[in-house]
Amino acid sequence: MKKSCFFYRKKKYSLVQNGVVTKKSPSNIALIKYWGKQKNKIQIPSNSSISYSLGKVYTVTRLIYHLRKKKKRSIRIFFSGKENTSFLPKILEFFHRISLYCSYLRDFNFVIETKNTFPHSSGIASSASSMSALALCIMEIEKKLVSSLEEDFFLRKASFLARLGSGSACRSIYPGLVVWGGHKSIKGSNNLYAIPYPYKIHPIFTKMGDTILVIDEYPKKILSSKGHQLMIHNPYAKERFRCAKKNMDRLISILKMGDLQEFGELIEHEALTLHAMIMTSYPYFLWMKPNTLHVLYKVWDFRKQSKKNIYFTLDAGANVHLLYPIQEIVSIRKWIYSDLFSYCKKIIESFCQ
Ligand code: DP6
Repeated sequence: MKKSCFFYRKKKYSLVQNGVVTKKSPSNIALIKYWGKQKNKIQIPSNSSISYSLGKVYTVTRLIYHLRKKKKRSIRIFFSGKENTSFLPKILEFFHRISLYCSYLRDFNFVIETKNTFPHSSGIASSASSMSALALCIMEIEKKLVSSLEEDFFLRKASFLARLGSGSACRSIYPGLVVWGGHKSIKGSNNLYAIPYPYKIHPIFTKMGDTILVIDEYPKKILSSKGHQLMIHNPYAKERFRCAKKNMDRLISILKMGDLQEFGELIEHEALTLHAMIMTSYPYFLWMKPNTLHVLYKVWDFRKQSKKNIYFTLDAGANVHLLYPIQEIVSIRKWIYSDLFSYCKKIIESFCQ
């Protein structure tokens, strides 16, 4: 039997009523990046990835469901209190993809009310936190319909569903370090849903500061789904996937040993490789802005002079995440506000745990 069959939910329910569920879910920052999907498969990554779920930076979603009387289904989306139709195609596609696994959804019309704790237009990708919050809401409905649903299954299926909405969203279901994508050295890792990182982590990595420097508030980025597609013809893609695999093995040993310097080198290399992939795709694209580069050079200089453990990683955009041991927050915060503030539109203090 295919592994995805475990998640089928086909039978009819008698106990179907109107209701409301509310869930929150964090954004996450990848250390080893997911970039590239397997051809002709739905949301299957080309390499395994690992991320930290973030504190303070999350989406809260309220899902209101009404029994459907008319044939045509209605889904309305409200973002921070205002109706937003631009997300509708993505949500409809999501509902279509998960219909096989959540047949009960066909019985309802939905109103989705969602808000983020991070500021609007901060350039922080919200698809991970919003898709995972929505997947959790859907599982909360399933829980009401099915008499016994174990916690493990609840989270695993939520991650499975979230993945079908947005790949990185499947990692936001769990706190801490989370792995998605099958990797031979990580027990239980697989392409269908994420799992909490199952091995020993040195205490230095159990809570890290993550200060997000918002450099571009309104990124005109290419959609990540389009970006992933470009990997199909990227001449360096094969080497990238090989490198990601090797980096995962390296990270497992770094996380165990607590080697911060190696950790920093690895995450910076991953971030720059992600950007190299979009620069060498066709059509090519540049996510960094001049201020991104200023910040990266500043980080390198500061690290050399102060010997502080502060490292950057990047998402698919111009913004910079600075990661450092939480114990060093006071001096690092002081430096960020004195030396980096002028390059940023906003600064968001978060943490990884
Ligand atoms: C650069 O998860 O946004 O953030 O699956 O098409 O929705 P889709 O892509 P998405 O890609 C995120 C890519 C990344 C790296 C990462 O989070 O691993």
